[in-house]
Amino acid sequence: MGTKLTWLSHGGWLIETGQHRVLLDPFLTDNPAAQAHPDDFNDISHILVSHGHFDHVGDTATIARRCGSTVVANFEIAQWFQENFAIQSTVPMNLGGWVTLPLGRVKLVPAIHSSVLPDGTYGGNPGGFLLVLDDARIYFACDTALFSDMRLIASGGLDVAVLPIGDQFTMGPEDSIKAIKLIEPRRVLPAHYGTWPPIEQDVRQWADAVNKQTTAEPVVLEVGGSLCL
Ligand code: NI
Ligand code: MN
Repeated sequence: MGTKLTWLSHGGWLIETGQHRVLLDPFLTDNPAAQAHPDDFNDISHILVSHGHFDHVGDTATIARRCGSTVVANFEIAQWFQENFAIQSTVPMNLGGWVTLPLGRVKLVPAIHSSVLPDGTYGGNPGGFLLVLDDARIYFACDTALFSDMRLIASGGLDVAVLPIGDQFTMGPEDSIKAIKLIEPRRVLPAHYGTWPPIEQDVRQWADAVNKQTTAEPVVLEVGGSLCL
């Protein structure tokens, strides 16, 4: 089976590749857009956390404890999970670093955002993730503004980019088009929109703009929908 990406709403993703099941920013509880429940996940080997905000840390501790998942995050967030939630298995990282996980190689890449943890603890620098899997190179920009060095992150070519389009807290639709022109992914998926009124977006209009103005194919998923690569 090839790699499969399932949108859990907001910035949350289930990444399945080979026999590996990995979550990114699983925010389900108190998320009005989410359909899945933390108990739905029983065999998650790793959980990637992009930054410290509540809508990304989400249900990581609950799921990691039940599944015995390894938490992959920047050093400060990894340490916070160890100290506060007795999560023993972590992969601490920092910006620019690669790690090799069972599903493939993962790089923590910069994001322009902020990262305080829900209890006020310093959450280090916010990040995105570049995944190099057997069959695909995938860039999760996570919560970020547009920045020109995205071009460097994409320099090995991208099969898929996942970009925020919600605006107000991250880049919005217009800047996402600029980002797509910089990084030229084969396919682009929108995220971090529609969860609450301030980040509602007309995703059809966004997809039209992607089609007209870039070379990428926009892939708009419903919550719970999947893209098979
Ligand atoms: Ni955030
Ligand atoms: Mn967010």
